[in-house]
Amino acid sequence: MRTLNLDLGERSYPIFIGQSLLQNPALFTPHLSSQQVLVVTNTTVAPLYLAQLKDTLSHCDKLDSVVLPDGEQHKTLGVLNTIFDTLIAQRHNRKTTLIALGGGVVGDMTGFAAACYQRGVNFIQVPTTLLSQVDSSVGGKTGVNHPQGKNMIGAFYQPQAVVIDTQVLDTLPERELSAGLAEVIKYGIIADIPFFEWLETNMPALLARESEALAYAIEVSCAIKARVVAQDEKESGIRAILNLGHTFGHAIESHQGYGDWVHGEAVGAGMVLACELSSRLGWLDAKECDRAVALIAAAGLPTEPPSGMSPDAFMRYMAIDKKVLDGGLRLVLQRGLGNAVVTGDFDAVVLQQLLQDRCIG
Ligand code: NAD
Ligand code: GLY
Repeated sequence: MRTLNLDLGERSYPIFIGQSLLQNPALFTPHLSSQQVLVVTNTTVAPLYLAQLKDTLSHCDKLDSVVLPDGEQHKTLGVLNTIFDTLIAQRHNRKTTLIALGGGVVGDMTGFAAACYQRGVNFIQVPTTLLSQVDSSVGGKTGVNHPQGKNMIGAFYQPQAVVIDTQVLDTLPERELSAGLAEVIKYGIIADIPFFEWLETNMPALLARESEALAYAIEVSCAIKARVVAQDEKESGIRAILNLGHTFGHAIESHQGYGDWVHGEAVGAGMVLACELSSRLGWLDAKECDRAVALIAAAGLPTEPPSGMSPDAFMRYMAIDKKVLDGGLRLVLQRGLGNAVVTGDFDAVVLQQLLQDRCIG
């Protein structure tokens, strides 16, 4: 097992990465506020791993669970309410601990429920998709979608621990593995050229789910994320670089209707647009841009926007992105590989031209 630490003063927490960690009570017990636990999961993950986790926590006096419907389209205030209904019906008090067992949707919703229930209770992240293991479970962004925008309602709220069991990736569908690789590739492009180069060599091993390769990719990704979040927990600056491709990607998700394109796919196509824009602005060498696009394609991700999505649709959805400041669009762009910047200082005509050229159908 490898252990990383996210250093946030009194809100610091460990990130455990290894095989069969779901079966290790010692990783959970020190982070429970009491003997009261609610496990939040969904209809896909529950039959696979809920019994195992409940067995690990069987020493708890009060061990309840709530099973949410599966899918991004259920990341809503309405479904969030079912977590509160269960907590209240089962008489959970301020000493309860919520455990998120699932992908990013379950993790984001459980974290937000923990932030709100009785004005804040403890929670532990047990991410079960590659995407949630390398990104969403770390850093404390929690929330739900609004029909008009992704993750529009939420809170920064840190977990007490993140327990990453790499074995659960065995059951992950191929499409979701690729989606997770989008966020892994993101770290290489924004901050770590040697890791980018390692990914260029090791993409086949990752797609073949070789356990050492996956564990290494997860560890490097979490280490980069932890380093950035430790500098800027609430995204007043540098943390925004973690959103490379996300402004375009969130526009794609919102336009398509949540759940049609999965988050990682939208981020993959979004990173291509961000790199191509950087290249057209003269900030990213064309060959480096091609390498980034090739790596995204090698991970099995889309490299074109959805057919039928117009430049106007992009601009409309991007206008409500959380990085918009004083009405001005800001994007994460590349000034070379390994060096992301957050800026509104780019020629909007170049962006318009890129979208005209890339949007088809
Ligand atoms: P997801 O939670 O929808 O999971 C993808 C699919 O895999 C689901 O059908 C799920 O039930 C299934 N699944 C989960 N674990 C499985 C397993 N081990 N075996 C088989 N199936 C499994 O999607 P995701 O990609 O994990 O997360 C995407 C969400 O995360 C989006 O809502 C996105 O906004 C959010 N996100 C949040 C942050 C953050 O910092 N909080 C960062 C990135 C993404
Ligand atoms: N996924 C981007 C962030 O956590 O800031």
